[in-house]
This record gives sequence, C-alpha cells and structure tokens, in this order.
Amino acid sequence: MSSVVKVSAIASYLPEKVLTNTDLEKILDTSDKWIVQRTGISERRIAVNESVSKMASLVAQKLLKKSGLSGKDINLIIVSSMTPDGTSPTAAAFVKDNISANNAFGFDVNSACTGFVYALSIGEKFARNPDYKNVLVIASEQNSKYLNWTDRTTSVLFGDGAGGVLLQRSSDKNDVESFLGEQMDIKYDKAITNAMLKDSNELPTNKIIPISTLKMDGRKVFEFVVTKVPQNINTLLEKTHTPINSVDKLILHQANKRLLPLIEKEINTVGVYTPCDIQKYGNTSSASIPILLDSVYNGQDADDTVILSGFGGGLSIGSMLLHLKGRF
Ligand code: COA
Repeated sequence: MSSVVKVSAIASYLPEKVLTNTDLEKILDTSDKWIVQRTGISERRIAVNESVSKMASLVAQKLLKKSGLSGKDINLIIVSSMTPDGTSPTAAAFVKDNISANNAFGFDVNSACTGFVYALSIGEKFARNPDYKNVLVIASEQNSKYLNWTDRTTSVLFGDGAGGVLLQRSSDKNDVESFLGEQMDIKYDKAITNAMLKDSNELPTNKIIPISTLKMDGRKVFEFVVTKVPQNINTLLEKTHTPINSVDKLILHQANKRLLPLIEKEINTVGVYTPCDIQKYGNTSSASIPILLDSVYNGQDADDTVILSGFGGGLSIGSMLLHLKGRF
C-alpha cells in the first residue's frame, strides 16, 4: 500500500510589536489611504526581540503542544526562510536545539515567498517513509531587517512572523496529494532581488556588501502573478482531475489583497472561499501561507479540500492540493 501524508497540526507565531500605516506616515511620504486602497494592509508585525530561529522555535513548541508530542518524537525539521539569521548554523539546527529534538536532523530551504510550499513538498516526500514519522515544516521571516525604510514602494508591504505544520503518515486516501512547482527563466526579469546584479550578465557581482535591501518592481510582479499563478493552479487541477467546485478553500500567498479576486476570476472559483489576513500582518513572505492556515483553522474542525499557492522571488510559483481533516 502506498503511504500518504497528512497535516496533523498547524501553528503560528506573530511578534508583539505592531507597526500601523499611521506609524509609517510619520517616517515616509505615504498615507494609510494609499496603503489600504492599493494593498489591503492596515498594519504589520515587526520582530524586535525575536530572530528567525526564535520565531521558528516558538512555532515548533506550539506544534508539539498541539499534537501531544515531545521533541524526541520529531525526525526531521525543515525551515523555509528568505531572511535567515545567518547561513550557518541553520534555523533548523536552532529549532532542533530549542525543542531538544535529539532524534532529528534538519535543514533550511529558501525560495523567497514560495519557500513554504516547496518545503512542504519536500517534507511530504520524507514523511511517506516510515523512518520519518513526525516531520516539522516551518516558515519564519524577519523581512523588516532587509527593508530600506526610506523606500515607500517596498517597506510598507512586508511584515515579520512564522508559521508551520506537523506532517505524519496517514491511512486516509487524499491528504497531501499533489504539488506543482514552476520557476520562470531568470531573464524573465529581475523584478524582485536583493542580490547585486551586474547589468551585463545575470550573475551576482562579487563586491563585498554587508546586506542588500529588497527591491521589487511591483507592477511587473503584479502582472506575473495575475497571469502565471492561475495557470499554475489550473494545471494542478487538470493533472489531478480535480474539479474546482470540489475545492473548499484557496489559500494564497498574502502579497496584495487586490490580487485575490483577479486570481479567483481566472480559475472560476465559484463557491471557493479565499481567506485573507493581509490587513493584520502584511506580506510575511514564505510564512504567509502557514500563518493564514492557522488564522483560518485554529481550534476548528476541518474536512476541507484546499489549494495552497505561493509565488514570488525567482520568479517562482508552487501550488499544492491537500485535504485537511481533523481539529487544528
Ligand atoms: N505611498 C504612496 N504612494 C506610493 C507608495 C506608497 N507607499 N508606493 C508607491 N507609490 C506611488 C508610486 O510612486 C506611483 O506614483 P506615480 O503614479 O506618481 O508614479 C503610484 O503610487 C502608483 O505606483 P504603482 O507601483 O503603480 O502602484 P501599484 O498599484 O502597482 O501598487 C504594489 C504597488 C507593490 C502594491 C503592487 O504593484 C503589488 O502588490 N505588486 C505585486 C507584489 C507581489 O505580488 N509580490 C509577490 C512576491 S513578494
């Protein structure tokens, strides 16, 4: 019998410090009205006392508590982050230490805002193997440290936070079902970058720079999302012979509230609920999907077919079809 994998717990952590649009009006040439109308964001959280590893560890602790497991039950820890505290030790190594997961190994994954869905797809492949009974997949982001706080076109968009899930093997038929990843040619454009790119070729320069801030050509990325993300989701539905009317929820990366109805329109989502929490947290890059899952399902009994779709730097897209069953 081929084994399948289920999501058995969901958790998130949001830093306490709230930065409102009104706060931003004091330091930037912007307004609450512009930010709300163009993005749907009213406020975001900023990690002042929390690192990426700490937020990921707090999520791991919540997942253990919710599932009644202890650290020694965990076999694998995968952390997605585009804003890690450093390159080594990995955030996964810190999580292992903080939850005393003595029987686990772990590693980090980075594919910008798409990272969580890619990490989930990797975790699912491990969790099919009986040697990996309990797999933690967590996304944790401290975008605030990579923002240029004098650039109103990017700094108003992002926030910090973390979220994650516990994966286990399941006897049900259709849990974590299928995944479709896609990466645009890097020449597609350099619409989101914090690498120093030369004009003449695509490889980053070897100039020594401390940390470069995030730059984004918002309009180009908007066009990319509206055309390519629905195509990716439609292909996933076709490949899995899943009619859209059998999907209960579409959990999209929270980049801009205006994107949601445009994506919905392209995939004809009549009767599909597309939740949104960007007004409270802004764009938390790869953490936005598990944070939204926790906003929607925390304490709820679920029996839902769900599509997750992440998109962003690379430019990359990852969509996943899964079934969420049980109390989260
Ligand atoms: N406050 C006030 N004005 C602002 C502003 C701000 N924070 N940021 C930009 N503006 C101005 C611009 O300078 C521009 O002025 P101009 O018309 O005089 O040149 C005007 O507002 C419109 O800018 P534009 O960039 O066209 O706005 P937009 O409607 O495209 O919204 C984004 C910008 C970034 C919110 C939007 O393009 C977006 O969400 N893109 C997709 C992001 C995404 O999906 N990312 C995924 C991976 S993270």
